Amino acid sequence: MQWEKITSFKTRHMPRAYVNSLVRFHHEFSDKERLEAAEKAGWNVFQFPSELLLGGDLLSDSGTTTLTSEQLSAMILGDEAYGTNYGYPKLIEAFEKTFDISEDTYEIYIFHQGRAAEHALFSQLAQSVPKNSVVPSNGHFDTTRANIEANNIEALDIKGRTEQTLEHFKGNMDIAALEKLLKEDGERIPLVYTTITNNTGGGQPVSLQNIKKIRALCDEYGKPFFLDACRFAENAWFIKQYEEKTLSIHDIVRNIFALCDGFTISLKKDGLSNMGGALVIKKDSMLTKTYPKLLNDIRDHQILTEGHPTYGGLTGRDIMSIVEGLKTVITEQYLSSRIGLVRAFGECMDFLNIPVLKPFGGHAVYIDVDKFFEGTNMGREDFGGISLTALLLLKGVRLCELGAFAFGKWNSKTQKEEFNGNNFVRCAVPRNKYELQDLQYVADCVKGLHEQKEKIPKAVPVYGRELTLRHFKARFELK
Ligand code: F0G
Repeated sequence: MQWEKITSFKTRHMPRAYVNSLVRFHHEFSDKERLEAAEKAGWNVFQFPSELLLGGDLLSDSGTTTLTSEQLSAMILGDEAYGTNYGYPKLIEAFEKTFDISEDTYEIYIFHQGRAAEHALFSQLAQSVPKNSVVPSNGHFDTTRANIEANNIEALDIKGRTEQTLEHFKGNMDIAALEKLLKEDGERIPLVYTTITNNTGGGQPVSLQNIKKIRALCDEYGKPFFLDACRFAENAWFIKQYEEKTLSIHDIVRNIFALCDGFTISLKKDGLSNMGGALVIKKDSMLTKTYPKLLNDIRDHQILTEGHPTYGGLTGRDIMSIVEGLKTVITEQYLSSRIGLVRAFGECMDFLNIPVLKPFGGHAVYIDVDKFFEGTNMGREDFGGISLTALLLLKGVRLCELGAFAFGKWNSKTQKEEFNGNNFVRCAVPRNKYELQDLQYVADCVKGLHEQKEKIPKAVPVYGRELTLRHFKARFELK
């Protein structure tokens, strides 16, 4: 088979002993088994069995965290009571401390993960908002967008800047565009959203100044302001590096959260946990004034779909791991080593002349797919990013396409693909899991394919190209 030939190269920049040790450690699976599994999965990385991977599983940084000893020991204390388990009051206290909020003034709903929190907010909000509503953001994540659109609300990206300039806050909202939208179409906007860090825009941070400007505009136009706060601590670390050098990370976090009316969060990222999510809403805000039934409706929704408010779809053990995770995640020591590792990995890719987005984001290194295939006949509609991730499975490496396929759309009328966003393959680094040499192996494998870029096949969707959230479900042939 020709794909085996393309991936039969030896990694050149890693010590042989390390690569051999990877192979020895995972000796139970052969290259042939990996190929069979990839074909069986329709070359869809989400369907590929994780135990067949050799080195880096960089599909996601979500829920893939290695728990700390503090978390593991706290988890033993968590009980599994149906009402107010041991960890619940501690979780509320951890929220109050971390985000500087109080249960008296904020409604706190816990969920099993971020998308359940998004679903709760938008499914309940949709019952009252006008028909042609629109929620602007600096960059909606795929599940956030899907949850908004599933409720017949438009999810609009006012894009973060991702072109190759070395600007520090490329995740920022375009303030002029937001102002124009509020001025011209304000009555359609039930709330303004901002994702920190901006995942679909390259894991890039948003500056405190930008957040303040969004708040000021929301005040001027009477709109609630919400954060998608999945990577709030990483975002705060960048603010400390480049904007508010004299403040502590915790002070920056407090400053950020003082500016919003509420937030959704997946605690599988900066909760340092394997499971968990939350929705937090200020009880007395523009949102609750406009939609007075909302808080109660969300509480009912939570009880109907997730569980009692004091466990919200989580085990007592999950809750305890979040309590501890929130303490660790805002320490400078943890954040510097975490983001430092991502940066070192990015520099390694850059050194090998792999086109990557710079500066590097907080949780991932993003390969620029259009640049990767420059000089070949790979067009965006050929899904080169999918082919790259597919072939890397044969090297035991898993990355994630976040570009022409994940965010593009098939127009059944014109029988054409539509996409004009960022075309990335993301290498997301799980927290507390890998060392630099694990990531160097990944970079080495990507390099091996980059050197043969004109031989990389096109990815042809044979199932699911017209479906919503198609990247999770589609199957491909490589041609
Ligand atoms: N918002 C952002 C910015 C995210 O990155 C994610 C998940 C979610 C919301 C949803 O959270 O997974 O707990 O339901 N991002 C993961 C990723 C899946 O790989 O980037 P969830």
